[in-house]
Amino acid sequence: MTDVAGRAGRKLNRDFRDIEHLQVSRKGPADFVSAADRKAEEIIYDRLSEARPGYSFLMEERGEVVGTDKSHRWIVDPLDGTTNFLHGMPHFAVSIALEREGEIVAGVVYNPATDEMFQAEKGRGAWLADRRLRVAERKHMDEAVFATGMPFIGKTGHASCLKELHQIMPHSAGIRRMGSAALDLAWVAAGRYDGFWERKLQKWDIAAGMIIVKEAGGYVAEIDGGDDILETGSIVAGNEVMRDLLVEKLRAAAG
Ligand code: IPD
Ligand code: CA
Ligand code: CA
Repeated sequence: MTDVAGRAGRKLNRDFRDIEHLQVSRKGPADFVSAADRKAEEIIYDRLSEARPGYSFLMEERGEVVGTDKSHRWIVDPLDGTTNFLHGMPHFAVSIALEREGEIVAGVVYNPATDEMFQAEKGRGAWLADRRLRVAERKHMDEAVFATGMPFIGKTGHASCLKELHQIMPHSAGIRRMGSAALDLAWVAAGRYDGFWERKLQKWDIAAGMIIVKEAGGYVAEIDGGDDILETGSIVAGNEVMRDLLVEKLRAAAG
């Protein structure tokens, strides 16, 4: 998985440096899919199919590909942080998760611009190169920095997002909106952020990041109390205390 993410990421990086020559097509309002995005997905699909013939796929561009082996599925976002990529901001990632019998058992999130490869395997911890990752230990909101995602043109939920910010902003040391949910989760695992929340994400945005957080000793929850984060895409992550504090504030915002 790291080998494949590395290859796809290096390809993205070459295109990133050459961004003015990219052919970009418009899929919908503010929803760009670049040629680089598709090329990266192709590399991932080809390499993973070769390494594990028959495994199924769920990929952002290609969608669901049912293989002969239905108990294994790769969940892939070839480029998370498309808007950053297109705007020349070096904060984007390749995200690959492996699901076995419906459970995520491994994940890789790779930012090729910084050459940071975040990875985790169930029961084996989360790692950034040879450094074992651990979520931050802060227990008070006033010293915590959070990441979130905000809806943009063509999305719903603008008003509720403002309510959520209103609940959390005055109590925290800062909120960031960096533009890659996969990296937001990886950064929670690395202890850079104390917590992260976002609604309506897709499975490929969060599948890899979730296991990286959990293997770094962190906790994730479905914001509204549901039991399937991947289904609803509404996620909160952090250490146990931060996760609970965020859930409390987010439910107050919804209430
Ligand atoms: C997006 C990023 C972003 C999140 C959006 C996602 P994309 O993925 O993860 O942080 O706020 O909701 O769609 O489109 O760049 O792959
Ligand atoms: Ca994404
Ligand atoms: Ca994407």
